[in-house]
Amino acid sequence: MAYDFDEVIERRGSWSTRWEKFPEQIIPLWVADTDFRAPPAVLDAIARRAAHGVFGYSAPPAELRDVVVERMQRLYGWRIEPGWVVFVSGVVPGLHLAARHCLRADQHALAPIPVYQHLKRSLELARRANTDVPLVLSNGRWVWDEDALAAAARSNSRLLMLCNPQNPGGTIFTRAELSRLAAFAEKYDLVICSDEIHADILLDEGKPHVPIASVSRETCRRTVTLISPNKAFGFPGAGCAFAIIEDPELRRAFSSDHHATVHDASVFAYEAALAAYRECGGWLEAQLAYLRSNRDLVEKRVASMPGLKMAHVEATYLAWIDASGLGVADPYQHFIKHGVAMSPGAQFGAPGYVRLNFGTRRALLEKALLRMKENS
Ligand SMILES: Cc1ncc(COP(=O)(O)O)c(C=O)c1O
Repeated sequence: MAYDFDEVIERRGSWSTRWEKFPEQIIPLWVADTDFRAPPAVLDAIARRAAHGVFGYSAPPAELRDVVVERMQRLYGWRIEPGWVVFVSGVVPGLHLAARHCLRADQHALAPIPVYQHLKRSLELARRANTDVPLVLSNGRWVWDEDALAAAARSNSRLLMLCNPQNPGGTIFTRAELSRLAAFAEKYDLVICSDEIHADILLDEGKPHVPIASVSRETCRRTVTLISPNKAFGFPGAGCAFAIIEDPELRRAFSSDHHATVHDASVFAYEAALAAYRECGGWLEAQLAYLRSNRDLVEKRVASMPGLKMAHVEATYLAWIDASGLGVADPYQHFIKHGVAMSPGAQFGAPGYVRLNFGTRRALLEKALLRMKENS
């Protein structure tokens, strides 16, 4: 079946965070959602539920647990049990639950930088001591600096934050890289909190996503894995997420005040997730092909802009662009002034950078890249 990712869909007026922040003349390529209509099976599932007409309190459906179990086995050879799955309303609440409940007030955490801001924000809001561990560019990929990681560990370190695939760097960490991280976690007896929301947005064929918890039984027991269909299947404004936690004590800690502080996902979210995982593999492949072409276009155009450079994006629909060569004080404001709103690098811990969301129709992306080229 053919899907039209070039369709122009007006998002202003739909309460879109991304589209309603800036005046109309600015192309908004910041917050990480796409401009594509969700897959037809997701739309049908939500419409069927809406037609039912009664929206009382509800529990996560057992069949969604089973679908998650089957998916982890099929995609990753990772055998999990339905009881290990804890549903939450989003990955962000999951990160905050992990920071508060999987780490005591007197313990310390390690977090990568640059990184999606909530990995760090969760530790700050929980008032947990933490150390940034800079990722480094090695052979064109943003990877952990293992010496810096070892140097940052303290005797009271207890939690390692991981974002795999990496936002904003776009890295798909390899099994070997993850195995070394897992060995490090074992050596220091760390819990790993792994944000894997971008696991289905793999642009480089032949580079598989590996959940860190799947590298060994020992690693699985010390890991909280956060996953969601929201990003890949296009419903982050109506979605849900889940944590996979084998260790019962860790699971209990993570869930301890869950229903008091974070509301359950909606029935629409469960319907959307079930439909996405059961019926939308073809749609996802088509979307990935489209995003891959967008990624190639961004990389080609950015390479022709003297003030900008970026590493190859293996996964996600986000380009992490080093704008320090522009010689402007604030590249984020510079591009807004010239009609393109990206995410400011400072949000991820690197003010000289901007992050461009290429999850949009090609014609609009071309227009934004032209504006950038004229001002780089
Ligand atoms: C790495 C990462 N984690 C979490 C989120 C947001 O997750 P959710 O919308 O499920 O709370 C994002 C959104 O951009 C993200 O990039």
